[in-house]
This record gives sequence, structure tokens and C-alpha cells, in this order.
Amino acid sequence: MRKLVIATKNEKKKKELIKLLKGLNIKILNLSDLKMHLPHVVEDGRTFRQNAVKKALTFSRYIKELILADDSGLVVEALDGKPGVRSSRFAHTKAKDEENNAKLLKLMKDVPLKKRGATFVSVVAIAKEGNLIGTRRGECKGTIGFEPEGKNGFGYDPLFIPKGKSRTFAQFSSSFKNRISHRAKAVKKAKSIIKKCL
Ligand code: IMP
Repeated sequence: MRKLVIATKNEKKKKELIKLLKGLNIKILNLSDLKMHLPHVVEDGRTFRQNAVKKALTFSRYIKELILADDSGLVVEALDGKPGVRSSRFAHTKAKDEENNAKLLKLMKDVPLKKRGATFVSVVAIAKEGNLIGTRRGECKGTIGFEPEGKNGFGYDPLFIPKGKSRTFAQFSSSFKNRISHRAKAVKKAKSIIKKCL
């Protein structure tokens, strides 16, 4: 059976990706399953696409299997697109999710409801043996709440209220998030690239 390696060290993101990739006739591995010494990839791109491509290409030079990397984050209108590609290290380089959420809420404390629009973005890149096979992008629109709500998910989920809903991603089940999320949309599109490589 062909194999696909998910190139992320974020455990919760990895779990989501594994669920989203179900249905492909492929064995899914994580970087940690490979027990290899792999380089640290500095995410210094200006766009999600640049970072996703950099991660996928870098690991594909060390691992012979098909590589899937995701770069994702939250784009907040009132903050001119921040935290964007810096979403995981918004408060500081080793920030915990709670610290990033606290910083976001602080910056938005005077922003009224109708100006709290935000978009989650995910770009998935597929690479093999040093060659980029393709990238796919998914977006999910919503608003930023006034305080953290809910325990599910990760990152900014306790603050993100998907469009048309009144609860945060962290208050919904993972199966609901996995139907409408930015990552779900990107992975759904990427599946056709993966199928062509099988
Ligand atoms: P990456 O690992 O560099 O792609 O960082 C992604 C960061 O964006 C995460 O650490 C979260 O802060 C944020 N993020 C991306 N996707 C999600 C999501 O689905 N829910 C909540 N936060 C997310």
C-alpha cells in the first residue's frame, strides 16, 4: 500500500488531518513514526503557501514517501490580516494557544461586533522527492468572539465563530468542524492530487 507522510508536529492539527484524509487507499504516517532525524523548518514565508511549500519540499528531500504539509492561520480584518502566517507565535515565539488568544482579545477589546470579521486559511502542499506536486487552499469565514468559549479543537477555536453560527468552533464537535473548516476544504481539494499519485 502507498504511504503518505503528514509533515506537522502539531498533534491536534495532525489528528484533524488524519480524519480528513480518511477514505483514501493509503497508509498515513506522521513525522514521528519515521524515527528519523529531520531538520527544523523555519516558517519565514510571507504567505501560507510559501510556508506550506517550504515544509513539504524540505521533508520530501529526506523522506521517499509522498509528503503533505499544511500551513494555516487566522486572518483578522480589524488587525489588517494579523496574526496571519504568525498565528502560532503571535504572543511570542513559544506561545501557548491561551497566550495567543489573550493577545488577540486584548488587541480587539474596542472592536465592535460588526467589525470582528476573520477568516481561517489553510494551504496544503503535496511534494515527492524534492518536487512540488501541487497546493490547494481552503478558507472558512467567521467572527472573533469577546471571550474564549468551549474546550474542543485547538489554537483560536475558542474565539472563532463560523459564519451563520452563534457558537465557537471549540463548542462544536470535531465532526462539525471537519465538515466546514478551512483545512477540510483544502484537504478535500488536495485528495484529487493525492489520488493521481497512487
Ligand atoms: P502552523 O502550524 O504554522 O500552520 O500554525 C498554525 C496556527 O494557526 C496554529 O498554531 C493556530 O494558532 C492557528 N490555527 C490554524 N488552524 C487552526 C484551526 O483549525 N483552529 C484554530 N487555530 C488554528
